[in-house]
Parts: sequence; C-alpha cells; structure tokens
Amino acid sequence: MNILILGSGGREHALTWAVMQNPKCDRLIVAPGNAGIAQIADCADLDIENGTAVVTFVEENAIDFVIIGPEAPLAKGVADRLRDAGILVFGPSEGAAKLEASKSFTKEICAAANAPTAGYGHFTDAEAAKAHIRANGAPIVVKADGLAAGKGVIVAMTEAEALEAIDDMFGGAFGGAGAEVVIEEFMEGEEASLFVLVDGEDVLSVGTAQDHKRVGEGDTGLNTGGMGAYSPAPVLSAEIEAKAMNEIVKPTMAEMAKRGVPFQGVLYAGLMIKDGQPRLVEYNVRFGDPECQVLMLRLGAQALDLMQAAAEGRLKEAKVNWADDHAITVVMAANGYPGSYEKGSEIKGLAALNSDSKNFVFHAGTKADGDKILASGGRVLNVTARGATLQEARDRAYEMVEAIDWPGGFYRRDIGWRAL
Ligand code: AMP
Ligand code: GLY
Repeated sequence: MNILILGSGGREHALTWAVMQNPKCDRLIVAPGNAGIAQIADCADLDIENGTAVVTFVEENAIDFVIIGPEAPLAKGVADRLRDAGILVFGPSEGAAKLEASKSFTKEICAAANAPTAGYGHFTDAEAAKAHIRANGAPIVVKADGLAAGKGVIVAMTEAEALEAIDDMFGGAFGGAGAEVVIEEFMEGEEASLFVLVDGEDVLSVGTAQDHKRVGEGDTGLNTGGMGAYSPAPVLSAEIEAKAMNEIVKPTMAEMAKRGVPFQGVLYAGLMIKDGQPRLVEYNVRFGDPECQVLMLRLGAQALDLMQAAAEGRLKEAKVNWADDHAITVVMAANGYPGSYEKGSEIKGLAALNSDSKNFVFHAGTKADGDKILASGGRVLNVTARGATLQEARDRAYEMVEAIDWPGGFYRRDIGWRAL
C-alpha cells in the first residue's frame, strides 16, 4: 500500500514512525514533512490545503491511502476532494470538521445529543455578549467561534477580564474567528483527553492522554500548544471512559450522522472530570499534538490497520491490542516560546540517542542544513519514551532530554507530575 501523510509536525512524525513499521506499507510520502521525518521517509513539497493539488499529487504518485494530520486541510475540505476522486482517506469532511472549526456548531450538536458540557450563550453582538457576562459573573469562559490556533479561549477569572476579551474579539484580535463568540459556564475539575476513531457509525477508543498546556513548571505561565503529554490518563478510569463514550461521544456521532454529516477520522474529546462525571470541553477533529506522539508509541504498527479500518467503515470488527504500558513525551521548545523566539539554532546530540520501539525523538519544528539539525519552530522536539510504568517512561525520556545539546531551547522538568 502506498501512503501519503499530510502535515509537518511532531504529530506527523509519530504517525510516520508508526505507519512505516506496518508490513502493509510499501511506500510512504509525507508532505511537507520536516527534517526528522525526512530521516525515515520521503518528503514532498505540496500545498496541503489545496484539495486539487493534493488529488493531483495522489494520482501522479499512485497513492492508495491518505492520512490527514492537521485541522487546516480538513476545515478546507481536502478530505472531501479526495473522497470525490475515489481516494481512500482518513479524516473528516469539511462539514464534520466543524466540530473543531465552529464552537457554536459543537455546542448546538451537544445540546441536540444531550451530551454533558458547559452551559453557553452564542453572540454575534458585543453588547449582548457583555450583558450575558454581567448577568452571569466570573469565572466565565469567552471563546472566539472559529479556528484560532488554540489562542481563541479566554478563561476569565474576573468580570473585567471577560469584558475585555469581548472587546478584543469584536475588535478583530482573532481575525474573522472573533466576529462570533461563545460564552461558557466555567467548569471545574481535572482535564483529560479521549481519542476515538470513528468510521461514520462505529467508534473505537485508541487511548487517553493528558497534556501540559502552560509553558512553566507547576502548570504556570502562558498557554502553549502543549509542553508535554502522557498516556494513559489515570483520571480517565475505565468507568469514566465508558461514561464519556456512552454519554458524549456516541450521541454526538449519532447526531452528526442523523444530520447527514457523518464523522470519519479521529475525534479528540477534551473532557473535564469532576466527581466521576465527564463533561465535554471541546472536540478536535484530529490527533492532538503532542498527544499523538504518546499514542503512536503505544499503538505502534497497528495504528495503520486501525486508521484504514476507520476509513473503510470496518471499525465494528477492529480492536486494539493494548500492552499494559505508559508513554510520555517532553517537548523541547525554542527559548522565548510561546512569545517570539529565534530560529536557526543548532541542535546536537540527536544521532547518539536510542531510536527503537521504546524511545524516539520526534521532530516538531526542525530543518536540516547539511548534516546539521536546526530549530525552525517554537515547539521543536518531542522526546518520547514508553515503559512498564509512567515513572520508568519518564526517567527514560528525561535521560534523552539531558543528552540533547541545545542551548537555544528549554523544556519543563515536571511533565507527568499530576499522574505521579
Ligand atoms: P479549548 O480550546 O476549548 O480546549 O479551550 C482551551 C482550554 O481552556 C481548555 O483546555 C480548558 O483548560 C479551558 N477551558 C475551555 N472551556 C472551559 C470551560 N467551559 N470551563 C473551564 N475551562 C475551560
Ligand atoms: N495539544 C493540544 C492540541 O493538539 O490541540
């Protein structure tokens, strides 16, 4: 089978790593990829948000299966263009991708499906939004309705902060994404994520994870795309996971199918858990990054069979072969991230590290310069390890982190603290 993976981050490096171990995989191309991906697979330059260009590339390269990593091509209907051309693809349609691309759409679907989530109001007018905030008080959560690269959510601890967020959003701080806002009830509890493959009808859990969004140790400082993650998430016990599946995931998937927009791909349910009850925080329509890195290390080659089963509508007969293991990933980021940071600093010591089924450094933002590896993004490396216990995995990951010689970068020393 010839496979094309779309994307260029640590998530796509992890997908590449897992897929290529499957004997079914004959040829693998990643577009556009990064310096780490290029060490294990062919990379191609391609505008992955242009459906026509992707279809042409697939036809010219005799690709049998396309796996879409990030949300942007999904929100632009690239999966639809591929399916229209008769090409097997893992990833939701543009209509189904609205579960991530529009917060008000998701809230409305959840209401119709009776799925537990925060109470909300949807506003297209700043004054009405402010009146809602004054009536409800703080803490309260203000969200730009559209895709805002994870930056469109303000968890306001005071009314003044919430009102200011409304001014920012209607003032264009988030571009078109802020012309509409969703204001939510503040939910307390512990957050964890559940990853579910969906084939339009049937669902299959492929694991749980927790990430660390804040840049600083002790979960302090600015929000980031994620500074580390681990799987499984202890807070998502089998019982709570079953509740999340039965009360949240399955009813929303059934509601999508009923509306003629069945979901196919991976549904990433962000959950808030309190007193044994999960409530939905948000859906994403793709694997989390860096959560994918820990899931792939645990799943290995079977990830390809599972994604193919989802794409072909055969999830009913699929099952995951779980090892009783734990995985963790530590993100190494460029100094200054998530603020402004320099690009181009050299990273040394990578070649000497173990790369096997239990240890792997996924590249998130690197580029090659001859034999050198240079940082080219904010989040740069995902140092990932697997072990019989979380402690074992964590010790191994930090051993690798310490062996990496990169004065231009930093990392958090406390990934996994909540679980340990
Ligand atoms: P989102 O992009 O919707 O996941 O929001 C980003 C983060 O904001 C989440 O991971 C939560 O930590 C927090 N958050 C979002 N919605 C709520 C809510 N209703 N109550 C409490 N925290 C929230
Ligand atoms: N790590 C959070 C995300 O991928 O959205």
